[in-house]
Amino acid sequence: MQAFLFLVRLVGLLSLTSRFLVTSVLQGLPESVVQALLRPSSVSERLVGLQVRGSNFTLGNTPFLILSGTIHYFRVPRDYWKDSLLKLKACGFNTVTTHVPWNLHEPRRGHFHYRGNLDLLAFMSLAAEVDLWVILCVGPYVGSDLDLGGLPSWLLKDSHMKLRTTHKGFTAAVNRYFDDLIPRIRGFQFQEEGPIIAVQMENEYGSYNLDKRYMLYIKNALLSRGIKTMLMTADTGQGLLKGHTPTVFATLHMKSIRQETYEQLSSVQGPGPVMMMVYTARSLDGWGSSRNTLDLHMLMASVREMLQLRFSLNFYMFHGGTNFGFMGGAAFRGHRLPMVTSYDYGALLTEDGDCTPEYLAFQEFFRPAAEIPSFWHRDGRPKDTYAPLAAGHFISLWDTLIHQDEPVRSTGPLSMEQLSVNEGSGQSAGYILYETVITRGGVLNSDGHVKDRGQVFLDDKYIGVLDDAHQKLTLPNDRHKEFLALRILVENQGRLASGTSMNQERKGLTGNIYLNGSPLRKFKIYSLEMQNKFIQRKLPNIWKPSFLHTEGPAFFLALLRVGSQPKDTFMSLQGWTKGVVFINGQNLGRYWNLGPQETLYVPGPWLKPGLNEIVVFEEFKSTLLIYFTNASQLGY
Ligand SMILES: *[C@@H]1O[C@H](CO)[C@@H](O)[C@H](O)[C@H]1NC(C)=O
Ligand SMILES: *[C@@H]1O[C@H](CO)[C@@H](O)[C@H](O)[C@H]1NC(C)=O
Repeated sequence: MQAFLFLVRLVGLLSLTSRFLVTSVLQGLPESVVQALLRPSSVSERLVGLQVRGSNFTLGNTPFLILSGTIHYFRVPRDYWKDSLLKLKACGFNTVTTHVPWNLHEPRRGHFHYRGNLDLLAFMSLAAEVDLWVILCVGPYVGSDLDLGGLPSWLLKDSHMKLRTTHKGFTAAVNRYFDDLIPRIRGFQFQEEGPIIAVQMENEYGSYNLDKRYMLYIKNALLSRGIKTMLMTADTGQGLLKGHTPTVFATLHMKSIRQETYEQLSSVQGPGPVMMMVYTARSLDGWGSSRNTLDLHMLMASVREMLQLRFSLNFYMFHGGTNFGFMGGAAFRGHRLPMVTSYDYGALLTEDGDCTPEYLAFQEFFRPAAEIPSFWHRDGRPKDTYAPLAAGHFISLWDTLIHQDEPVRSTGPLSMEQLSVNEGSGQSAGYILYETVITRGGVLNSDGHVKDRGQVFLDDKYIGVLDDAHQKLTLPNDRHKEFLALRILVENQGRLASGTSMNQERKGLTGNIYLNGSPLRKFKIYSLEMQNKFIQRKLPNIWKPSFLHTEGPAFFLALLRVGSQPKDTFMSLQGWTKGVVFINGQNLGRYWNLGPQETLYVPGPWLKPGLNEIVVFEEFKSTLLIYFTNASQLGY
């Protein structure tokens, strides 16, 4: 205890004094730290996993310092997993941390997917092959700036749902998920000769804390299914006291070293090693906000401090990758902030996996030059700048409707989650269209029920947008018509990734919409989920030449010819407004002229030699021209 308090004081002192520039950084670090960092990861005693011994972690009975970086397998194209893991290793790290997104693995209740880019086991096998340990964050809530923090949206079909509590509907779903997930990963634990040295349960639960029994339930759910490696929790400074669970190792999420946090840590956990589980220099970028930047010198000074104090640490993110498809969530910063498509995050690798100057600086910091593996080289992956293209064909969204699945008919509006689609799991992401008939215009009032952004059309004519900030629109009268078709096309911009408001994160129309004070009735509701298979196989082949047709909402088709060796590139939709891009049926994510992000990452492995099909769903207006660059533009 005495020693720990001394350490706490030292931390306070250091954070005041040690903001100096790091030059030859390995000099001056205690020898034992250097040894621990560079120690080969093979261990003699496979039965004794990660343990706390005094102020050290031990692994296989040997003192061990965890130096980890986060890579999300689902945010990096599978063909590049190994490259990212090798770069992690070559930078001097010994562990990869990854999160398991329940919503992607069980998109419909009871249907589990672990293939392709979701092949968690293949990812962990590669990590082992590259000689890295794994910290696996199994949630069930993982946060990670994902839609609903990685929880499946079908949970919200239950109108009484209390996420992350012992509410029966929640635990029943978790039990089924863990019954499927845990047996898959059990054999990958350290004690079974596998790479997993620790399992993180939940994420920052102390900041949520709706149920005092919940963490104990999760702990038992993992233990009873055969998890025997060290269990961890991770909390921010404020959440630590509430999130800590007896016999589970508490780790920290923070951006800078703060003395009071260590005092709290020692009060819940006693003396022991300190693990900075989410060390992050930056935060996410949202549409319409400016880009976050990172201060390398601050970062270096903090890391140096932590290593001098023998802290274990994890970089969030080592490689951020991309919010492909609709996986990105939203944050709340005084107003709702939907996340941009790139998850670059100021990570040590760029979105497309190249080494940043920060990577090189840390490599110098962590590894003597002689220790850098021969496979590593600093050059980026080759990129291509393909010639600009015109989208030669289009289909108006309205023309596709008769080819879509039968619309759901309902007296009042239904949210995405309530729709009877996907075998009762409802709709998770994308767009949803509400149609009804009115007899005259007037004032349309959304009463805050449009989640998140709705375009309003009267007889195919665009009237305006409804969202949190704009809740009223005036609909014109048409003297010549007895009936007018009213359409509201609503986009789900991603559910909040954290906070207790997640329990209300239903999308589409979540309640009545009023016309001149009366609620609209008799809806036809089209679920426009825009899943990859729809774009690839089910989009009707009724394309028309686009000529000068540039109006959305419409699908636009362009063909990109690629040589025999497809390379990574970045697509720029400069002149377009807002929508989603698919390439060969893969959803590259959202674009929006609001910025800051200007280009979308197109991974080479998703292209093929010859013709590649690009489908753009544009909500408003396009110029038909698609540009490519060999460098990303993520804004300022
Ligand atoms: C922690 O590990 C270091 C380096 O191996 C060692 O010098 C020290 O005695 C260990 N401390 C404890 C309490 O085991
Ligand atoms: C990108 O293109 C420019 C201009 O053609 C070229 O100078 C540069 O080397 C290219 N960069 C990469 C990474 O390919």
